[in-house]
Amino acid sequence: MQDTGGKFKEIVQNGNIPSHIAVIMDGNGRWARKQGMERVSGHFEGVNSARDTIEACVDLGVRYLTLYVFSKENWNRPEFEVNCLMSLLVETIYKEISSLMEKNVRVFPIGEIGQLPEKARKSLEDVVGKTSSNTGMTLMLAISYSGREEILRAVNMLIDSGKKSVCEEDLRSCLYNPDAPDPELMIRTGGDMRVSNFLIWQCAYTELYVTQKFWPEFRKEDIFDAVLNYQSRERRFGKTSEQIKGDDLV
Ligand code: IPE
Ligand code: IPE
Ligand code: MG
Repeated sequence: MQDTGGKFKEIVQNGNIPSHIAVIMDGNGRWARKQGMERVSGHFEGVNSARDTIEACVDLGVRYLTLYVFSKENWNRPEFEVNCLMSLLVETIYKEISSLMEKNVRVFPIGEIGQLPEKARKSLEDVVGKTSSNTGMTLMLAISYSGREEILRAVNMLIDSGKKSVCEEDLRSCLYNPDAPDPELMIRTGGDMRVSNFLIWQCAYTELYVTQKFWPEFRKEDIFDAVLNYQSRERRFGKTSEQIKGDDLV
């Protein structure tokens, strides 16, 4: 196994750990095909990557980690694949509950959870209930999730409340998890340079990091690489580089 201690230390020394990391876990199907296996084998293998990612983020002291588990658009996949993904979700949740408790992780689903099959919904309710008093990292699981739907849902909640005009704070207060800060870093595996309807309100100023690695190949070291890369970026938020460095004294 690769020694990641050096990278871990470097990240901690640099400071500036993202408070929220969002991950588009993509490339499971392509990874499986490359091994001559069925697409769904990639999803099964991807669970190890999710476990590694959660562990790495807990170790780094990341406050929020959002994993894109299943998009609203993913309902359009073949029925067999959707069923496998739902069963895998249930199986994984029950397998991982004790380890999430040990790590003091709180699970918080975002998305249209009501659309999930009964067993999947129940497993999520169970893990949410069991982990609700945990005070460490919040693990947000985006399931049956659509960024546009999240915004529309918020707009409709505001209309229902009788508002005639709204500000950013109003909209934010109606997101699935209003307490979560915007992600500073969004990681996508599998090489595609797109956001795929993920956290589109929240990622207005998020740093994007795309790796060619397929999700089942992604390990702790890769999270550390992504965070080190993030730490090397200059986040300007529309200002000039001189302003950010503090030497705009003229
Ligand atoms: C991501 O991997 C997992 C889900 C979307 C559920 P994919 O299944 O999209 O893998 P590729 O992109 O087809 O390789
Ligand atoms: C995004 O991956 C959704 C998840 C990782 C759950 P997709 O594979 O569905 O994205 P597109 O369709 O290629 O953009
Ligand atoms: Mg994909």
